Amino acid sequence: MNIHEAIRNRRTIHSFKTDKVLPNIINRAIDAANQAPCHRLSFPWRFTNINSKDRSLLIQLAIKMKFGTLSQEHEDINVKRLITKMTNPSHLIVASQICSKDPKQTLEDYAACACAIQNLCLSLIADGVGSKWSTAKYISSKETYQITKIDPSNEKVIGFLWIGYGEPSKKINRPNISSVYREN
Ligand SMILES: Cc1cc2nc3c(=O)[nH]c(=O)nc-3n(C[C@H](O)[C@H](O)[C@H](O)COP(=O)(O)O)c2cc1C
Repeated sequence: MNIHEAIRNRRTIHSFKTDKVLPNIINRAIDAANQAPCHRLSFPWRFTNINSKDRSLLIQLAIKMKFGTLSQEHEDINVKRLITKMTNPSHLIVASQICSKDPKQTLEDYAACACAIQNLCLSLIADGVGSKWSTAKYISSKETYQITKIDPSNEKVIGFLWIGYGEPSKKINRPNISSVYREN
């Protein structure tokens, strides 16, 4: 798959199957992420591959934050749906950004991290693997830092990257090129 096809084929996956992604595909995607541009050679991106025990803890946290105290009905439908959603993907990789005291550097570093994440997703789709960048509420909770062992004084969690096989969601109508590009 060439770069043009990868850009067009990459779509957010909302519903993953349970099939596992081979480690060499993940390693290749991390290497692609690490090729992203960054200003002042800050290399601000970090990726943490979450093991199954810690993923279970994150699932419990997401349930607690989303549903609080549960009624039996919630447990039967919505909780099970959330558990399936967070259990099915082959990998969960947490993307974080190294903190900077300089606001301009922080902005540029976030841009660089976004480039890195896009590179990662493009590498995955070139290997036939889907992904989703999620910024759900629980990603910035104190417990998430504790579970993932990410030091909040040094790094900011900017996304959960869900990785695996699944069908892309329905087609999105993108803006016409004429509405996003001008030639003066
Ligand atoms: C910074 C960022 C955060 C996102 N967070 C979420 C999220 O929390 N939940 C979600 O369902 N999708 C999330 N997405 C995916 C977008 O909703 C998705 O990219 C958009 O619908 C366009 O679909 P596409 O990726 O298939 O082109 C996020 C995407 C980006 C770039």
